[in-house]
Amino acid sequence: MFLVILVQLLMHNVLVQSTETREAFISDTVILPCSIDPTAAGGDVIWRDEEEKTVADIIMGKGDFSDQHPEYRGRVQTFPNEIAKGNFSIVLSNVNTTDSGIYTCYAPKPVQRVELRVTYKRSSFQQHTVMYSFDSKRQWC
Ligand SMILES: *[C@@H]1O[C@H](CO)[C@@H](O)[C@H](O)[C@H]1NC(C)=O
Ligand SMILES: *[C@@H]1O[C@H](CO)[C@@H](O)[C@H](O)[C@H]1NC(C)=O
Repeated sequence: MFLVILVQLLMHNVLVQSTETREAFISDTVILPCSIDPTAAGGDVIWRDEEEKTVADIIMGKGDFSDQHPEYRGRVQTFPNEIAKGNFSIVLSNVNTTDSGIYTCYAPKPVQRVELRVTYKRSSFQQHTVMYSFDSKRQWC
């Protein structure tokens, strides 16, 4: 029964939007990818974390950080030269384990989900802890 629900959840996610996974170590810099057909994109994109906190907005082709959550302040950049090509990827620097989770790029519908997993460098125990808590969170989404 549980398996059926899980499979349905996974299928649902696949149909609604694509998900990418990024793995990183503490203090790394990661790219969270989001590409939209530039002819289809309305132009504005918002990035939210799984708690709906604002990571970054891309308004009229530029990064707008006025609504950004303090947790992400000074750690996010956009690629201004790429935006016209439909590349709304962002860079998150100095990541920590608390950054682990799902990031979604909305335009305005959810276009891309990115699952970020941040782990300690030399500790497989910590790695398993982070992944386990992430997976258990996901079952209740
Ligand atoms: C988007 O831009 C970044 C930075 O230049 C690059 O690393 C990435 O590959 C680009 N993505 C696509 C799909 O072109
Ligand atoms: C990561 O978070 C932990 C716990 O909040 C903190 O002690 C540590 O200093 C942080 N590491 C970095 C590199 O910011």
